[in-house]
Amino acid sequence: MAGASVPFSSEHFTQFSLANEAATARLGAALGRAIGTLSEPISSVGLVIGLSGELGAGKTALVRAVLRRLGVSGPVKSPTFSLLELYSISRLNFYHFDFYRFSEPGEFAASGFRDFFGPGAVCAIEWPERAQAPGLPIDLRIELQINEPGRNAIFDALTQLGQECLQETDRAWRTSQDETC
Ligand SMILES: Nc1ncnc2c1ncn2[C@@H]1O[C@H](COP(=O)(O)OP(=O)(O)OP(=O)(O)O)[C@@H](O)[C@H]1O
Ligand SMILES: [Mg+2]
Repeated sequence: MAGASVPFSSEHFTQFSLANEAATARLGAALGRAIGTLSEPISSVGLVIGLSGELGAGKTALVRAVLRRLGVSGPVKSPTFSLLELYSISRLNFYHFDFYRFSEPGEFAASGFRDFFGPGAVCAIEWPERAQAPGLPIDLRIELQINEPGRNAIFDALTQLGQECLQETDRAWRTSQDETC
């Protein structure tokens, strides 16, 4: 049962223990499955996921696995330099942002990226705090922590849709864990 773990939950957050890179890929697949399940409400209102954690924590690795689960087979590049990589997934647009390079308040507003948020859009944002935009409408906050030799992922739902996404992810994670045992 290598890499398997039972998520620890409290009222406010759920922590997933990721012993190795394969576990990160499995969690990303679970999140991708949750996004697929919730495609109807996402079509109506959109979904915003904030991904925090230090350099090399696994934010891009997690998003890459989400996209693979959603059917993206080509390269998934880190948006560190481009700031944005866009993927078309069935009825949804998936925007993978990285705001690491933002340093001044107002850069996010000037970028026009806010216009991409909304119905039909999944926005996965690395370094969301660098936008310095207090009103960023995040539904699900994910913090990746380096816990050598592995990682911890802490999910914190901030809206009803975020909560549903967390529950669906947790369900898919447990199912995939059973399958690997
Ligand atoms: N659960 C895990 N255990 C150990 N290593 C992992 C785990 N998950 C991912 N990794 C490794 O950690 C690194 C994560 O790199 P990644 O580019 O995803 O980080 P990042 O958080 O996006 O960094 P940045 O802030 O620079 O964009 C990769 O080398 C990957 O192989
Ligand atoms: Mg990254």
